[in-house]
Amino acid sequence: MTFQIPKGLFDIIPYPETEAWKLSKNWQYVESVIKKLCLDYNYLEIRTPIFEKTDLFLRGVGESSDIASKELYTFEDKAKRLMSLRPEGTACVMRAFIENKMAFDRKIHKLYYIGPMFRYDRPQKGRYRQHHQFGIECIGSNNYKYDAEVIDMLLSLFNRLKIKNLKLLINSIGDFESRENYKNALLKFLKPKENLLSQDSKDRLIKNPLRILDSKDKSDQEIIKEAPVILDFLTKEAKDRFNSLLSLLDDLKIKYKIDHKLVRGLDYYDDTVFEIIRDDLGAQNSLGGGGRYNKLLKSLKGEDLPGIGFACGIERVIQTLIDQEIEINQLDSLFLYIIPLTDKSLEYTFKLTKELRDHLVPTEVEKDITKLPKALSNASKLKAQYALIIGDDEINNKKALLKNLATREQKTISFDKLKIFLNDLYHKI
Ligand code: HAM
Repeated sequence: MTFQIPKGLFDIIPYPETEAWKLSKNWQYVESVIKKLCLDYNYLEIRTPIFEKTDLFLRGVGESSDIASKELYTFEDKAKRLMSLRPEGTACVMRAFIENKMAFDRKIHKLYYIGPMFRYDRPQKGRYRQHHQFGIECIGSNNYKYDAEVIDMLLSLFNRLKIKNLKLLINSIGDFESRENYKNALLKFLKPKENLLSQDSKDRLIKNPLRILDSKDKSDQEIIKEAPVILDFLTKEAKDRFNSLLSLLDDLKIKYKIDHKLVRGLDYYDDTVFEIIRDDLGAQNSLGGGGRYNKLLKSLKGEDLPGIGFACGIERVIQTLIDQEIEINQLDSLFLYIIPLTDKSLEYTFKLTKELRDHLVPTEVEKDITKLPKALSNASKLKAQYALIIGDDEINNKKALLKNLATREQKTISFDKLKIFLNDLYHKI
């Protein structure tokens, strides 16, 4: 029997290059851009466990959301406590924030995370049962300038990665009062058409009618076209807030499309919700999305602090880089490949390798005597930049032969200068 990876999961591997989006160097590149972005926007890293008590997700994400009601990976631990693999990061960050009393350390909290999330959904391209998110949470202020900063940060990530053809969709679902007013109007509109709705939407009529707005069902969509629009039901405060945000986005020259049907699939949102989608894809086209959650922390028995955040799917981002044929900058690769040609040189080269590594020069060495052409081809396969060749002549003359594997240029360097020379050569690259 052979073992196969469970459905909807995938490995991130260094080779072979059959599916470029699974290559670890591409993941490392995107993660390095993310980390620099977080530094520039003053976000600090938070890491939480990959499983939590199931209750956290039922309360945090909301029982009426698909993510909590249908897609949780839940198991009983040995003491029969219900645990779930995290389907998203926001609820986990809120739990950690409360438990570690982070609120007392400062006023504004800017936190980021990168890690796997788990959703039991029907797998397809762009949708996996384990996917990876980069997410941020900004806790402590309801100032709309944070909404703009958070949206700008997600767009900046895509700009830095040179991704094209994106669209920013934005909406406001208002405060509690706005939503209650809207829900009543929506129910009044949908009730007489109930038997024309899909089963999912019929269920949502009771649990969360707003979610009917983003139904993918064709006949639901026809009905919804005529439905009242949430923006007409915002309280004055919510409307003013949304308008201030939009005019700040205009000032920042950030283009957006107001999508009054955008409600997003999690229950915790208030006011601003947004999503960045690929214009060139139909399904699984959301690269990232988020919104404001002003009551979430309190509802989890934490401080009464507002927050806003987003998360983006790293696999979708890498797949986009590949679909759009965007050059992925190579991070550090192997610098030097050392080739001993004789017994005499084996001991010297092994020791030299360790010394170079101690000086942070990425180095590999042949452990057995290998014929030069074979050893050079090994070096090329590993994409080393230089080969250092040492045989009996070199040992006797205390000189090594350095070969640039791209230009084929060669140079001899005496042993006493070797370490300094290679060190300088690597560190000035
Ligand atoms: P979300 O929209 O559920 O939001 O997920 C964020 C992103 O994760 C999506 O836009 C998509 O790119 C990616 N994603 C989601 N599910 C999958 C999947 N099954 N396979 C591949 N990629 C997927 C959240 O999770 C919120 N916690 C975001 C947030 C943070 N809101 C406020 N703060």
